[in-house]
Amino acid sequence: MTRTMPQPDPSPILQTAFAFWSSKVLLTAVDFGVFTRLRDRRLTGRELGAELGLHPRGIADFFDSLVAMRFLEREGDGASAKYFNTPAAALYLDKDSPRYVGGILIMLNDRLFKFWHDLPEALRTGRPQNEIKHGQKGMFEELYSELPRLEQFMGAMTGLSRINFEALAEKFDFSRFKTLCDVGGATGLLSIEVARKHPHLKCTSFDLPPVEPIARKHIATAGLGNRIGTAAGNFFKDPLPRADVITMGMILHDWNLEKKKHLIRAAYDALSANGALITIEALIDDARRENVFGLLMSLNMLIEFGDAFDYSGADFQEWCIEAGFKRFEVIHLFGPSSAAIAYK
Ligand SMILES: C[S@@+](CC[C@H](N)C(=O)[O-])C[C@H]1O[C@@H](n2cnc3c(N)ncnc32)[C@H](O)[C@@H]1O
Repeated sequence: MTRTMPQPDPSPILQTAFAFWSSKVLLTAVDFGVFTRLRDRRLTGRELGAELGLHPRGIADFFDSLVAMRFLEREGDGASAKYFNTPAAALYLDKDSPRYVGGILIMLNDRLFKFWHDLPEALRTGRPQNEIKHGQKGMFEELYSELPRLEQFMGAMTGLSRINFEALAEKFDFSRFKTLCDVGGATGLLSIEVARKHPHLKCTSFDLPPVEPIARKHIATAGLGNRIGTAAGNFFKDPLPRADVITMGMILHDWNLEKKKHLIRAAYDALSANGALITIEALIDDARRENVFGLLMSLNMLIEFGDAFDYSGADFQEWCIEAGFKRFEVIHLFGPSSAAIAYK
């Protein structure tokens, strides 16, 4: 009897090839505010479609795709069926939920979806493919030249980072440290999450001058103005504020190797004796085989900046040893993200 080898499964090829269809449906739903409109409501397709100004042709396909993808639920079948949010959509995709992560989906839809179309060109040239492709400005200078774009970027960072910052506040032992400076702190979210959980800590959120008023507003709203201060500056020109812990959430991955090393040295200089530098990233596994999201994030840095790239815990350790750090650890945070920690 001849034994035939089982055929490899083609499903992963097809799932990945078509993934942009489902991605675009979810991103469009967030952009339209589907989940915000459905807060505490159940609507028929016709009612929801009318509120969103949709043509009848796509209504059932659009909402039922979201049901099949488990982002919406549907009670009943046919024209009288009513759509409502799944628990996860209600928590993470309703704009007014305190745990909203949709900011990153809005930016993916508005910017990155079209910039990734030029991945082939990025791979051939090593050049960025975003707004700076045809201009002279740097990425942050370009993004921050218009307030709506600055605010969209800040919202995106909140969406991507909140769960990791909550995990850091939970998992890292802050008990022996008194002060923390979050470098590139954006809205102040890391300081807010850590200060909430660790009442003995005083925090500073450091970022470029246009970002400072946004951070101040968020810190005041969180009622933490007495424990979190802000500082404005340029981390390539100014010394970093002194602290026992320096955190950098998705900062090092924005820059090339020379600038990464500059920031690690600046952190070393600003840390007190026995202080800790913590970077939070979609840290690539050392063998570069497993963390798909981290590897794709690094390609995204090619699209956004050209010479910037994501890195592994081993890379981080090597650069930190050069700067004088003595001890290292990696703490897994959430999903593909981890904290890489270097102790002075
Ligand atoms: C990718 S975002 C990360 C935001 C936040 N740490 C997080 O993890 O969600 C990078 C941050 O670095 C800030 N940044 C960029 N260039 C800077 C510079 N030269 N000096 C200070 N901050 C800078 C940006 O304004 C932005 O808030």
